[in-house]
Amino acid sequence: MREHPVHETGQPSLSDEQFRRFRDLIARRSGIYIHAADRDALRGHLLARMGQSGATSFADYLRRLGPSPEGEEFQALLDLVTIQETYFFRDQAQFMALQRYVLPELVKARSRMGEPLRIWSAGCSTGEEPYTIAMVLAESIAGVASPPPYILATDVSQGALAVARRGIYGERSLRSTPEHYRERFFTRDGETYILNGAIKEMVEFRPFNLMSTPYPGARGPGWDVIFCRNVTIYFKPETTKAVVRRFYESLWEGGYLFTGFSESLRYLSRDFLTIQVGGVFLYQRSGVGYDRASEPRIRVGRRRRASAPAPQRTQGPRAEPVPEPKLAPGREADSRAREFVDAGLPDKGGQLLAPELERSSPPKKALLLHAEILLNQGRAVEAAVLCEKVIRREPLSVAGHYLLGIIHRTLEDDDQAVEMFKRVVYLRPQHALARFHLGELHARRNELEAARREYANALRLLQERSDSLDERFAGGFSAGLLIDTCRSRVEDLDGDV
Ligand SMILES: C[S@@+](CC[C@H](N)C(=O)[O-])C[C@H]1O[C@@H](n2cnc3c(N)ncnc32)[C@H](O)[C@@H]1O
Repeated sequence: MREHPVHETGQPSLSDEQFRRFRDLIARRSGIYIHAADRDALRGHLLARMGQSGATSFADYLRRLGPSPEGEEFQALLDLVTIQETYFFRDQAQFMALQRYVLPELVKARSRMGEPLRIWSAGCSTGEEPYTIAMVLAESIAGVASPPPYILATDVSQGALAVARRGIYGERSLRSTPEHYRERFFTRDGETYILNGAIKEMVEFRPFNLMSTPYPGARGPGWDVIFCRNVTIYFKPETTKAVVRRFYESLWEGGYLFTGFSESLRYLSRDFLTIQVGGVFLYQRSGVGYDRASEPRIRVGRRRRASAPAPQRTQGPRAEPVPEPKLAPGREADSRAREFVDAGLPDKGGQLLAPELERSSPPKKALLLHAEILLNQGRAVEAAVLCEKVIRREPLSVAGHYLLGIIHRTLEDDDQAVEMFKRVVYLRPQHALARFHLGELHARRNELEAARREYANALRLLQERSDSLDERFAGGFSAGLLIDTCRSRVEDLDGDV
């Protein structure tokens, strides 16, 4: 690898070839794909590690990264390129759904088999996620589950795991933790919170890289629940597809996969059933592993699979590949691309769009569809830039503002998301989905009256015009499902407001 002379800062520049080599090495070993837009950030991380390790050039540093992802220097670099942001009770509604709807069924089934409930937090970072699971289990099934549940928490970062094992946290990590959990499970010591020993003991931390095989549980009893949230958003879609497939194979028949808020499996897997419980969307390994519980759940759709299930498990429903859409000749490229995207073939849609996007002034529809594809590939920032371009060109674009709101929700930038959805309802007061998102965002901020008002507005609009729902931005969920969700949210809030 030839060293590029010098950057304007006086430090070496990263040539195209060098960038590609580091990017590909990191992607191969960790799944994390560094996009061209983040090249300067990568260069900064490399220079920082070169300074620490005494490497004299990028080529020298590449050699020092050694042959395996477990090597000390690769781990140090990984700690710089990974995002380890996490906190207790992140996306609280998911833990409510776990407690209210998922656990009762699983605990009953496992206790009857005399086996422990098994939960895996994959990509657990500094431990807040698996410890939240442990607290929820301690609250809801202590003394009921026998034998006691087993929680495995894994991460590729040894540094993050060391923090997790200590179990000592700052206020930031507890920012969404309900008061009674703080009181029951933590001891305060000045600015820090020390997690109770009993909760710490419920979780086993172990290094595991999602790029390696076999997955934990794949050859033994399957997992009842896998949490993998906000981990694969940094991977390329084909990498995520492979990871999701392995999760599927490691789950017990009927087990559940919890993904992050923005991580729909819509384009990634046809294996799972999408289920709505308590207002959140979960993915279930199709099968007959457990007794059906009586709690309300809405089955949103079955994605049929193209290959046979893992051999050690009971046979699931028969596989049927999804046919490619038949396209009417002569249709505009962006409409045809839309059909591919809706059929779950975003890459093909993207190919069709490419010539449109190369035009000096690409049509708005093509730009927004491209933004949608980028968003689904985990490239939210690039998607936001495209939406902003559309909005600059057409300041009253409802679709542009709405998609940008969705992107900000994905990026967990709630302030910006609220701003965008407010603009949408200003431009089009009857926009039910924007009102639904405003309801969700107000509820997250504990602005209960505003949340109730927006859910009620969304409910009224959906009931009036349920046929007009744009299901793409409802994550593929139907108007009927959204109506049920809004109704149950309004009922819940009636008690609180
Ligand atoms: C943003 S944190 C998510 C933590 C937690 N799941 C949550 O949602 O709050 C992402 C974590 O994924 C881990 N990670 C990234 N690539 C990984 C891989 N290939 N195998 C295992 N963990 C990985 C990172 O080290 C980081 O701790």
